[in-house]
Amino acid sequence: MKENLILGVDVGGSGIKGGIVDTDTGMLLTERYKFATPKPATPAAVAETIKQLIDYFSWDGPVGCGFPSIIRKGVTITAANIDKSWIGEDITLRFEQTCGLPFYVLNDADAAGLAEVTFGAGKGRKGTVMMITIGSGIGTGLFLDGKLLPNSEFGHLFFHNMLAEHYASSSAKDREGLDMETWAKRLNEYLHHLDRLLSVDLYIIGGGISRMFDEFRGFLDVDAAIVPATFQNNAGTIGAAYYARLCRETGE
Ligand code: BGC
Repeated sequence: MKENLILGVDVGGSGIKGGIVDTDTGMLLTERYKFATPKPATPAAVAETIKQLIDYFSWDGPVGCGFPSIIRKGVTITAANIDKSWIGEDITLRFEQTCGLPFYVLNDADAAGLAEVTFGAGKGRKGTVMMITIGSGIGTGLFLDGKLLPNSEFGHLFFHNMLAEHYASSSAKDREGLDMETWAKRLNEYLHHLDRLLSVDLYIIGGGISRMFDEFRGFLDVDAAIVPATFQNNAGTIGAAYYARLCRETGE
């Protein structure tokens, strides 16, 4: 098997997606395949679903995985939109033991950002770039001159007396039945709040809703460049595979 081919997996609150990625180009070489996230999404259940994904692709090589939690030294520290039993779990060990393949795990928004700054909308951009993934929660990946500051959690800023992701995520939009304009104005408020704290040069908007970027861009008036993720909802899968490649090359 070629060293540049890696299975990327993106664990989300509603789906666990994967595809084989050419980490030289950032291209998905297969259709992305998705299983529903098991309920409850316990460590054992999520690991089994990832094993199904591996079997589906008949994959027998390294796996990069984006996961919706702070990940420090291979351990999940938080569990905002996933079962609480993940807190303190040695996620790399769990996946390696269940699947029998080498795993490289990082935060899902960091993964998406890595894909975008390497191959997509943030490629070659200097300055402060923030990837924002909007889905069940809000994830952020923060980069300075292309270098990642891992595990930023700006979706958890306290805002309007609640976590920002409870106010402006796609699930908040669905839960409260908000129309696009109402939701987009919330996103705009959130971007202004971020901007007061960080003076970001470029925001890259990802997650499923980034497909509708043209419908909400007009409501965003923050003084920074704002673009949709080139890889839309596949950014996390591609970035996770690329992360695995980097780890293997640097021996980390
Ligand atoms: C989690 C983040 C994650 C984001 C998007 C948040 O609730 O705390 O770690 O990146 O959701 O999935």
